[in-house]
Amino acid sequence: MVTEQLAAKDAGFIPPHVPDHLVKDIDFRYAPEIAQDPWTYFASATEGEPIFWTPRNGGHWIVSGTEIVEEVFRKHELFSNGVVMIPPPPRPQSIPSSLDPPEHGKYRKIMSQRMFSPSALRSIEEHMDGVIEELCGKMLPGGECEFIDAFARPLPVALVLKLMGLPPARQQDFCEWSRMMFHGQSVEEHLDGYKQAFGFLGDWVAEERATAQAGASDDIGPFLSALVEGRVDDRPLTLDECHSLSMLLLGAGVDTVTSQMSHAMQHMALYPQDAQRLISHPELIPKAIEELMRRYGIANITRVAGKDMEYRGVSMKKGDLVLCATAMGGLDDSVFDSAMTVDFDRQPSKTRHTPFGAGPHICPGAYLARTILRTALERLLPAMPNLRIAAGEELSYVSGITISLTRLPLQWDVPAAE
Ligand code: HEM
Repeated sequence: MVTEQLAAKDAGFIPPHVPDHLVKDIDFRYAPEIAQDPWTYFASATEGEPIFWTPRNGGHWIVSGTEIVEEVFRKHELFSNGVVMIPPPPRPQSIPSSLDPPEHGKYRKIMSQRMFSPSALRSIEEHMDGVIEELCGKMLPGGECEFIDAFARPLPVALVLKLMGLPPARQQDFCEWSRMMFHGQSVEEHLDGYKQAFGFLGDWVAEERATAQAGASDDIGPFLSALVEGRVDDRPLTLDECHSLSMLLLGAGVDTVTSQMSHAMQHMALYPQDAQRLISHPELIPKAIEELMRRYGIANITRVAGKDMEYRGVSMKKGDLVLCATAMGGLDDSVFDSAMTVDFDRQPSKTRHTPFGAGPHICPGAYLARTILRTALERLLPAMPNLRIAAGEELSYVSGITISLTRLPLQWDVPAAE
């Protein structure tokens, strides 16, 4: 019996309301198969079962398939955002990502109307070309690089710093803190990265807010002005709320773009015919990005059952954790023919996959993320002829809140100097 095998193997947690036939031994974080090919593991581990329980990582449900993943994202009255990670983090709540409607909407409004306003996004787009040129200037002439450190991390860091009005001189620190937080080699390194970013942002927000409130700064930008002027229930935001919002932007806006961009570039290095097609037809790039986000979904999002309930015939108890992985939404063979194949000509399906989530928490950075990915591919692909994975290197992946490459060593041809 699966239950007995698992109980003997790692004493995983299976609560009494979970029937044996719904238990599967799936470890979305540490399964050894993930290092080689996380998407094959995610797509096949479920064996077509839409809802099942895994005893790994403290025990939780996993939902699988395009329709159900989207439904769980949307149905906040059943599935709460009260726990944002598996296993649950020993940290304070994150605003607004760990709140449910209607509380969530009060903060979300400040974010969507001010921090991600069209004019804020326009100024980022104007800034982006300069950052890309600077990174390309350092990277392209060498003919090889480790792409994550050279481009995929510094680009979103620079843009998120700009969005928030943080000093560009701290870019290197933020790159390092982001690397430690999401890809630290140990729990200690992960917590150290978090503490350093948290400490810096806490001091910075307090100082800048005080200066702005005293009317001592001229142009404070959309992020700080949202923190200073934003109101919840007719009161100003507290310092803790401002701090939490700033940590969220850093946490949500950097590693996601880094991961998604490196998966896109590794695909281009492994499938030169796809790279060549996009070089010849750059107008296909926006569609290609949607397809690459479907095939290489990265976000492992958590929900928690808000009450005891029967959901699609399965008994869940209040407090049960539920993993909603966008990879499992995008690789549904019943919706996407040959789902593991990247096909830029795929017809838009009626049932859309959800790389940016759905419902109240849908990613407010989606437009910015798509713009960054499109601009980067347009600039990089023609400038990296014969793009390939560096000779002798093997790719390996890790899975946590995002599915990421550990390194992406690339090589390309550099035209001989005239
Ligand atoms: C390819 C890149 C990205 C992907 C795949 C992605 C994915 C997601 C997903 C799936 C969610 C939903 C979380 C949930 O339902 O609980 C989300 C939320 C969020 N994302 Fe993104 N994201 C990306 C880029 C960005 C960027 C560039 C920013 C900001 C600069 C950003 C800011 C946020 C914020 C603030 C939230 C929380 C929204 C809320 O709780 O209301 N994301 N993202």
